[in-house]
Amino acid sequence: MKFFVDTAEIDEIKELHALGMVDGVTTNPSLIAKSGRDILEVTKEICDIVSGPVSAEVVALDAEGMLAEGRKLAKIADNIAVKVPLTWAGLQTCKTLSDEGTMVNVTLCFSANQALLAAKAGATFISPFIGRLDDINIDGLELIDDIRTIYDNYGFETQILAASIRSANHMSECAKIGADVCTAPPKVIKAMADHVLTDKGLAGFMADVKKAGITIL
Ligand code: E4P
Repeated sequence: MKFFVDTAEIDEIKELHALGMVDGVTTNPSLIAKSGRDILEVTKEICDIVSGPVSAEVVALDAEGMLAEGRKLAKIADNIAVKVPLTWAGLQTCKTLSDEGTMVNVTLCFSANQALLAAKAGATFISPFIGRLDDINIDGLELIDDIRTIYDNYGFETQILAASIRSANHMSECAKIGADVCTAPPKVIKAMADHVLTDKGLAGFMADVKKAGITIL
């Protein structure tokens, strides 16, 4: 499973990238707004760091506007994936951009039917939002599982990019289901390293190090 990092913060991307943890980056208008940076400028900077797909989202709501914005975003770098919302206009834009050879990430997916339409429209990635479904008491992981089944049934090549990841548990569950990619905030990727027994075991070892006066250097 590929790891994308869901942030527009350059320092966070650099830190995880240095560890080989970043196969790509996703941004959205809220993350760009949070960064306080110009969208074109910060997206270019991210593309200079990461060679994998970098999602940059359109902000127009009509197909013509989305297409014009998508084409402009695609010019930033070869690894741009234009992100469009899962609306009818978004699907129209997805089809045109995909036919032009641009990677497209169809976002704000909350149902298997939406995922099916995105695949038919030639999406490179479909982004089902797990956490936001969980928030309204619908099992987000079940949606990932359903999309995996549907895409496998028919050999769709659209990659399942599990999004709105809120916990380390979401990451391992997505890996078990067979999501192609998970995009997660840096803190969730770091939390994957945590285990209470690791902390406890290390505390025990350190107590013995102190008692026995063990030194290495
Ligand atoms: C994905 O591409 C989105 O940017 C993101 O995962 C949304 O997550 P949120 O529901 O935590 O805002």
